[in-house]
Amino acid sequence: MPVVPATQDAVTRAAEALARGEIVAFPTETVYGLGADARNAAAVTKVFAAKARPRFNPLIVHVPDLAAAERLALFDESARALADAFWPGPLSLVLPKRPESGIADLVTAGLDTIALRVPDHPMAQALLTAAGFPLAAPSANRSGAVSPTAAAHVAAELGDIPALILDGGATTRGIESTVVRASEGAPVLLRLGATPREDIEAVLGSPLPSAPDGAAIASPGQLDRHYAPATPLRLGATDVAPNEALLAFGPNPPHGARKTLNLSVGGDLQEAAANLFASLRALDACGAEAIAVMPIPDESLGEAINDRLRRAAKAR
Ligand code: TXA
Ligand code: MG
Repeated sequence: MPVVPATQDAVTRAAEALARGEIVAFPTETVYGLGADARNAAAVTKVFAAKARPRFNPLIVHVPDLAAAERLALFDESARALADAFWPGPLSLVLPKRPESGIADLVTAGLDTIALRVPDHPMAQALLTAAGFPLAAPSANRSGAVSPTAAAHVAAELGDIPALILDGGATTRGIESTVVRASEGAPVLLRLGATPREDIEAVLGSPLPSAPDGAAIASPGQLDRHYAPATPLRLGATDVAPNEALLAFGPNPPHGARKTLNLSVGGDLQEAAANLFASLRALDACGAEAIAVMPIPDESLGEAINDRLRRAAKAR
């Protein structure tokens, strides 16, 4: 079992493994990432293989700070304002890639843009500092499956494929970073995530439109079916059948489910986001015929939670 507590010693070993071209799973504040040296095409190939991820789907590159990000990409005024406001934190910026960035073409799927993120997690920061090079890191799950919010989720899905799985406990944000393109004209939202749309709009001082549906191919995290458990989901449920599991939200959920997990009894959206993926995994494993999901307000973080649930519910 390659799961180890994320001590400084383990972080050093992980950085050495990364420098040798191996891949390592590590915690961030959103979900666990599966990292590789972003300059090393052979290492990055291992990440695509481990996830069975289509090669056209580019990876996010993680760096310790804005200075490191500026060595890889060009920031216009709004990109800089967003980085100042939200880094370190769960916002990924898609920016024009510097031709001299040294990032392997596979990372960006041959695009002339690059997605950059500065994670707000002490272990992720320690790993980036120890490595001294940028890490390409998608979520550490098989492509299309539910993202991991605990080291055990990574071990269950990827086993000993990563050289090490750094265990930093359960992640606090629970859903992936928000992805915003700031590469041509006004910024556009490519993926809903842990930084709410209205927080970004407040910094920009203008609305943040979603990319039009067809343009979503520019961010395949938008692929229709994604984040999906094996059990079918029934959204907007106000009642539940005995052969169903119930993903509840708020006080007084309906009784009678085979198994019930409540995302947040108090109706708190951040708590719900943090519990979302682990709850889907647990209900997926309880042998129910379907997972009934109670309605969740479509505001603030609820927008991203509902986005993930809709994609998880898409029929195969
Ligand atoms: O919270 C997160 O973002 C996590 C943690 C590990 O940092 N990472 C993550 O990575 O969710 P991944 O690979 O599962 O999602 C990356 C998203 C995908 O939707 C991808 O299409 C998009 O970012 N993306 C990456 N590079 C892009 C680019 N150059 N242009 C447009 N979209 C891009
Ligand atoms: Mg992912």
